[in-house]
Order: sequence, then C-alpha cells, then structure tokens
Amino acid sequence: MLTDMATTIWTRRHILSLIDFTPEEYETVLQTAASFLKVLSGRTKKVPALQGRVVANMFFEPSTRTRSSFELAAKRLSADILNFSPGNSSLTKGETILDTAKTYLAMGADIMVIRHKQAGVPQIIAQEMDRLNSGVTILNAGDGLHQHPSQALLDLFTITSVLDPDNPRLELLKGKKIVIVGDILHSRVARSNIYSLTTAGAEVHLAAPPTLLPQDFRHMVKDNSQGKLLLHWELDSALKDADFVMTLRLQKERMTANFIPSLREYHRLFGITRDRLKVCHPDVKVLHPGPTNRGVEITSDLMDDPELSLVSKQVTSGVATRMALLYLIGISNGS
Ligand code: NCD
Repeated sequence: MLTDMATTIWTRRHILSLIDFTPEEYETVLQTAASFLKVLSGRTKKVPALQGRVVANMFFEPSTRTRSSFELAAKRLSADILNFSPGNSSLTKGETILDTAKTYLAMGADIMVIRHKQAGVPQIIAQEMDRLNSGVTILNAGDGLHQHPSQALLDLFTITSVLDPDNPRLELLKGKKIVIVGDILHSRVARSNIYSLTTAGAEVHLAAPPTLLPQDFRHMVKDNSQGKLLLHWELDSALKDADFVMTLRLQKERMTANFIPSLREYHRLFGITRDRLKVCHPDVKVLHPGPTNRGVEITSDLMDDPELSLVSKQVTSGVATRMALLYLIGISNGS
C-alpha cells in the first residue's frame, strides 16, 4: 500500500488554505486517507512512513479534537511529536511566535501544525521558514476566521465515504445538496468547506440569521467551480431535499456583538431537530465539526443517533485524513 502511495505526485509544500486546491489534490487526499483508514482498522495500526521526522503541534488556541487528532495521526505514522501549549510556554515570558517556531526549527522540526486565533499566522510562519530555506512545511490547523483545511478535508472524506466506502471520490458529490447551518460568519470550517464542496460539484446552501450570514458569502464560489452556492436566511427552504446537513457551533468566543436574540430563539429558528429533517432527502445525514452546544445548534438525541449523525465518523475520518496530509507533505518535502 505504501509503495502505491509513495508514487503519488504531491507538490504543495504548505497546506494553508483550500482556496487554490485542485481536484487532483482533493482526489489524492481522499485516496490516501482511505488507505490510512484501512491501516487504522487493521491490527498494527501504525506505519513507519515518517520515522525519524519531527512534527511540532503548535496550538496557540484551545483545542481538543484537532490537536489530539494530529497527535495520533503523527504517532500512527511513527513520527516524533512535540506538543506545545501557550499557557505554560515561553510566550508567557514575552517570546514571539516566530521565535517559538525558530526554536522548534532548531530542534529539528520537519512539519509544524499551527492553530492560532489570528488569521494569517500559519502563513507568516510558512514565509519565514521558506525565507530561512529550512525545508519545514506548515499545516494550518485553523487560523482565526480564515481557514481550517484539515477539517474540510476530513468532512469531504467522511461524506464521500458514506456515498462509496470503497472508493471515496469527488464525483460522488456532483449535484448533491449540502446545507451548512449556523454561525457561518465566524466559521473557518464553513469557509474551507465552501471551497472543497463547490469544487466537487455540490450544491452548497448556507443558512443562518442575517447577522451571521452576510451577502458577501455569495462571492466565495470560484468562477470555474462546478458547484453552486446559495444563501438562505431561514431554514426550511434550505433543508428541502438536502442530502447532508452540516451544523456549526455558535462561536461565542469569536463574537464581538449580540448577533442573536437568545440561544432559545436561535434554536427555535435554526436548531437542527428530527422534526426539521423531515423535509430532507430520506437518507439525510448530519455532520458537526465539534465542539457542540447540545440543544442549541442540534438536539442532543439527534447528535447521538448513529443512523443520522456522522459526528463520530468525522472524528475517526479525521485521524486518517490528517495522516494523509502529514504523509503527503512529509514525503514530498524531504527524505
Ligand atoms: C472548529 C474550529 O476550531 O474552528 N472545531 C474544530 O476544529 N473541530 C469549529 C468550532 O470551534 O466550532
């Protein structure tokens, strides 16, 4: 299996955004993730692909699943992993983020996985690493309101695997209706998903109150995109015949004003419930990137229903997808 994957041509050094991802790159990620999912469900669960390489997990913002998912992915590839958390680091002593990155570089880090509350930080570190000719590759694990490429790629892998578990691929999404509901304004997950899903040819419908879904989002779809992007400021028309419904957390920590009247009112108008899903396609499935405000954007019983909810599958797919990303940028940049 690894011999097949090693022949894959992958030229992208850093994964910072999905804005310019090509269909070929998406397909490569899907195929590689599918191979790693098999490794994870096998007996050994580990491959030596990144043995001797160092992955630095640099999360300047709180995270549970993304951070653990990258950590496990790196371990399953036999890399050595450095875990950084800002609270007990030298940042509290005034060190800059670039100095932190250079410290990890001096320790031999090959791949830096970076999350930061400000948009653009992974890109700045990538530019500095390139300027130094370091050979270090950067993986954006979520920057401010900008991008979250690994989440959208794991969502793509989850959805295409539901449609064809043996051969997840982009064309399965052609003409599928995917609804993204919730706090789109503050969501880097939505911004990355819009690029991947419309490139795959899906019909993406965004639904939120006007305060959380500005008109500007119309312009996110690229001219050459096969897919469509439609906006809704109420839920029922968006949900009609939907194949997949992706709910988003109300991101209170990123809000600077009162965007909704109350959580109860928000739930009444935009919360996903069993009842509301009745207008969707009979095989509809629900996704959520987590963490979830149970009872706000989605009812608790729906989230735990294995027939309807893909939430656990997203987490499992996440490890395989992140293995694929670390592997692809790891093998294309270095020994
Ligand atoms: C998302 C994030 O951090 O942007 N979560 C995640 O990575 N699993 C979404 C969120 O925080 O609501």
